[in-house]
Amino acid sequence: MSESRAAAAIVLAAGEGKRMKSGTPKVLHKFLGRSLLGHVLAATTALDPEQTLVVVGHGREQVVDHLAQIAPDAVSIEQVEQRGTGHAVRLALDSCPELVGAVLVVCGDTPLLSTGALATLIDLHTESGNSATVLTAQVADPTGYGRVIRREDGRVASIVEQSDANTDQRAIDEINSGIYVFDAAALRAALTSVTRDNSQGEEYLTDVIAGLAVVGSAVGALTVDDPREVLGVNDRVQLAEARALMRDRINEQWMRAGVSIIDPATTMIGVGVRLEADAVIHPWTLLEGSTTVAARAEVGPGSQIIDTDIGADAVVRFTTADRTVIGPAASVGPYTYLRPGTVLAAKTRAGAFVETKNAQVGEGSKIPHLSYVGDAEIGEGSNIGAGTIVVNYDGVAKHRTIIGDHVRIGSDTMLVAPVEIGDGAYTAAGSVITEDVPPGAMGVGRAKQRTIDGWVARKRPGSAAAAAAAASSGVKPAGAADSAGDPGKNAPTPTQPPSPSDRPAGETDPEGNRE
Ligand code: UD1
Ligand code: CA
Repeated sequence: MSESRAAAAIVLAAGEGKRMKSGTPKVLHKFLGRSLLGHVLAATTALDPEQTLVVVGHGREQVVDHLAQIAPDAVSIEQVEQRGTGHAVRLALDSCPELVGAVLVVCGDTPLLSTGALATLIDLHTESGNSATVLTAQVADPTGYGRVIRREDGRVASIVEQSDANTDQRAIDEINSGIYVFDAAALRAALTSVTRDNSQGEEYLTDVIAGLAVVGSAVGALTVDDPREVLGVNDRVQLAEARALMRDRINEQWMRAGVSIIDPATTMIGVGVRLEADAVIHPWTLLEGSTTVAARAEVGPGSQIIDTDIGADAVVRFTTADRTVIGPAASVGPYTYLRPGTVLAAKTRAGAFVETKNAQVGEGSKIPHLSYVGDAEIGEGSNIGAGTIVVNYDGVAKHRTIIGDHVRIGSDTMLVAPVEIGDGAYTAAGSVITEDVPPGAMGVGRAKQRTIDGWVARKRPGSAAAAAAAASSGVKPAGAADSAGDPGKNAPTPTQPPSPSDRPAGETDPEGNRE
């Protein structure tokens, strides 16, 4: 952390970002949980400058709204016409006539900036008594950046923009990061003589450097150790590059903190996510927003987890979860969609092709297969049979379903809300349950089965079904080829259970209470 405090941080964020080819202002493009501007402000606000001034222009309503959410203390300065970086800084200074001391200037499009590098820059500036200290970088490909021109004694003489540079200057591989610390008074004075006499017709902030150097003010420079820190995002290729670098930085930090990341290249962890040591993140997994993952939980592969708390020892595979709670030792997935308001208690299960919304599921309860559970509360130790649907919407309003403890919902039950299933109750498979089922009762809501013997032989003669049925009963159907094989093998066995139609409806098994 820096020992000297900046009087102000000025963030330049008024440009359109033409090269993004976007309807969204450049600084509002996002990755890993923050906008470009948000990443920059995270680095500057950690330095605790006395004030933060953000110059806004292009798409300013959107940018100002965004600032109100992410940095309510920042003051926005309007730059109606973007006449260049020098003009932008001038407007910011004009809005604070009393401002003196060290002023940090950063661009809103350099999201990989670290607080550490900025702190070192401010300290160097203060200790050396410079009028300006510029952060530079040595890069393999300087194309597009301003080049740093040094004097014979090594001091910075000027910065020349790519479009104004001659061939010799373009060969220089030391670039201007667009990040500086200035003495406020010296900057104010130098800006008065900046012209628009250049290839872009803009007031370049970079011209201040030459202006100060000429009048004999000390201009210093600090070269960053890692040039990737000052990557400027001007187009979507650089946006993707910045995202990948930030992804690596975040993943590395979590791995060093004891989290296993099986494939860092396909794992995206947002800046607001918190993970405990011994959590395991499998490939192709996105952890977003305020998600937390506790010790020994395994998340992924193939999961998108947003604003969700995952408890210790939980397993979450191929799942989308948005604003949910997944309790300790719960098992979720594969192919499961947990929507907002889902709260799965400890040791619960939400299995394949299960969707839940606003559903509270008690400890040890299971929804193992192919179900929709919305606007529902399930007690402890209950099992929801395969294919069960909570019919929460009557076409006008949503209604609640309450399922007690140790309930067994038969497969393919429709629970038409509002409805309540008491503790220890059962429902029969295939039921449409429209009335409450009291504790310990069996709810059956389906037509009694009717079996029409010999229907296939009469209605589908000559079909494969008829042949199979005939072979099974040992009777050769009329006109069938003699190919059924040994009839004895297919004779009915004497131990066959009675057909379901022989059972009274009230005693029907809740088939499919698979656990
Ligand atoms: C700028 C520097 C260049 C440096 C590079 C580093 C100048 C003239 N050039 O070039 O030396 O190598 O950054 O990334 O400063 N902005 C405003 N108002 C304006 C113009 C720009 O607020 O009128 C903002 C933009 O929104 C952006 C930042 O200033 O966040 C830099 O502007 P940009 O046009 O991207 O400058 P570069 O050409 O990248
Ligand atoms: Ca830029």
